[in-house]
Amino acid sequence: MHVKTIAQSINDGYLTGLYRITGVIVKIAKNGEPYVSIRLSDSTGDVHAVIWPERKPLDWNPPYRNSMNTCVYASGSVNYFTSCNKNPAEKKPTIVIDEIRLATENELHEAPALTTLPRLYCPNKDVFDKLISTARELESPPLKRFVCRVLNQDQVFQRFLQAPASTKYHHSYPGGLLEHSVEVACIINNIELYRSPNEKELAIVGGLLHDIGKVRSYNNYGSMSLNGKLTDHNAQTLEICAEALKELDSDNYNLAETLRHIWTCSSPGSRYGRPTKFAIGHVVATADRISAEFGNENAAFASASTHQNLARLGQLEYCRLA
Ligand SMILES: [Fe+2]
Repeated sequence: MHVKTIAQSINDGYLTGLYRITGVIVKIAKNGEPYVSIRLSDSTGDVHAVIWPERKPLDWNPPYRNSMNTCVYASGSVNYFTSCNKNPAEKKPTIVIDEIRLATENELHEAPALTTLPRLYCPNKDVFDKLISTARELESPPLKRFVCRVLNQDQVFQRFLQAPASTKYHHSYPGGLLEHSVEVACIINNIELYRSPNEKELAIVGGLLHDIGKVRSYNNYGSMSLNGKLTDHNAQTLEICAEALKELDSDNYNLAETLRHIWTCSSPGSRYGRPTKFAIGHVVATADRISAEFGNENAAFASASTHQNLARLGQLEYCRLA
């Protein structure tokens, strides 16, 4: 199967590949026939598409609200309808769908990592691109599959791209959780003491997903959810990764147990957890701390005047040198 991203498809004039439906509405055409207007998204962008009545395959239930966020295989021509916009420079492409169906597990498995993750949902596109490159640069097939399994989950991906990392401390804005997670992975990636590629990639994956449990900690308004009030996010991390960890157990048992240890071992100030048994356990905890402290300091000085060299954030006090 020939697979192209949305960006490549628009360039080529024909779309064919795996995408996620991120918008769907049924409209009535001038001839009175209903047709389906959808938005297709992937890791490179999004595009408007239409399914004319005669193009609907027999086994396709018109994508109403139940189709939101499902992954599909779609193909169709790129059109620039003049009635939409008179200025040629501002014309937006519309895909006229030839074929559309649910994507198979196998197709998604063989596609480039996180290809159907909607760039559209992420407030910070630069950070989104770093997430995609971090996943694609993993050389260990089991670890790459693991990251994709965790992040492609319906209840996870949108919140991971949009949630804050805290309510009033570091990275406490939409997209803050992803920004913090990618920062931690980048810090880990820049250490040169690893003794094997596997050790380095385990640390990167451990860092990238160390706060994935926070996708349940906040509601849509960025306030603490009931789950966030009642449950430690580290426990949620194990629950969210449970299915993917089970698969990783079969792929490579030691990798799975190392990740479980990294996410549950004790860190300075923690009440629970086994003492860290690997250097990379400390690496993840330290990278987490570095990212959090820079974030806290940024937040403390965010509303300070340029002359102010002391700022507070809750109980924390920060001093600006220059
Ligand atoms: Fe963190």
